[in-house]
Amino acid sequence: MELLSVKDLTINFGGVTAVSKVSFSLAAGEMLGIIGPNGSGKTTLFNLLSGIYQPSAGTIALNGAPIQGLPANKIFNLGIARTFQNGRLFWNLNVVENIIMGLEETRTASIFGAIFAPAKEKALQTQAITKAMDIMGIFGSLLLNQADKIAKDLPYADRRRLEICRAIASRPKVLLLDEPSAGMDSLETERLMNDLLKVKKSIPDLSIIVVEHDMGFIKGLVDKVMVLNYGESIAYGTFADIAGNEQVINAYLGQEDGR
Ligand SMILES: Nc1ncnc2c1ncn2[C@@H]1O[C@H](COP(=O)(O)OP(=O)(O)O)[C@@H](O)[C@H]1O
Ligand SMILES: [Mg+2]
Repeated sequence: MELLSVKDLTINFGGVTAVSKVSFSLAAGEMLGIIGPNGSGKTTLFNLLSGIYQPSAGTIALNGAPIQGLPANKIFNLGIARTFQNGRLFWNLNVVENIIMGLEETRTASIFGAIFAPAKEKALQTQAITKAMDIMGIFGSLLLNQADKIAKDLPYADRRRLEICRAIASRPKVLLLDEPSAGMDSLETERLMNDLLKVKKSIPDLSIIVVEHDMGFIKGLVDKVMVLNYGESIAYGTFADIAGNEQVINAYLGQEDGR
């Protein structure tokens, strides 16, 4: 059975259909790239999948159970985690603390535990730090070397890595990455691509959907690609399948960088 199955997903804002009858499915461990020009509905699709927006029509099923219409926190608890196009972190917390905030056990921890069972709480804290370090280790020593740096003092590209780590910390089944390479130069972008390959390798069951405006970024990274244009899926398949598609080439003509 497919892990995530989306059928005819649609949302209208007034007269604008931002996402129109989008369908796709994703198996465990599969990586899907979503590309499309600016304004084509990529972020809106993520907002639908993560429960921030309610669809006007269509269905989303996770492990066969419908989840469309559920509130964002419910969907997150069911295993769909995301990052944001413009970045979101606890800016005044350090790197380890940011990841700990994402850990499953932090989210479910009782605040009374600290009062009634300090020894147990301490053990949990040590465990949480170890887990956070493990997750940071996916990116080699890059974040580990900056473990006690305050998030706002991190270099830009590392902030984006930290966001990914924090999302991974909730142990999601599906990870949604909204333009993780936004604002990066080509060298940083290439490094990030390699990092995403590391994520894939270290968590083989994790399904990832990555939104990107740049075809080059996802080439060689994803298993399948979906191309959005004016909210509609105009092509879906392997990169090789979609690269020669005339509609895709037309959608990208005259906007080389997709913005
Ligand atoms: N909350 C909203 N209200 C009205 N229009 C919206 C809203 N969210 C997104 N849209 C519209 O949906 C379309 C797709 O936007 P978006 O999903 O952000 O595109 P992308 O991420 O592909 O650049 C745009 O026309 C945008 O203005
Ligand atoms: Mg967007």
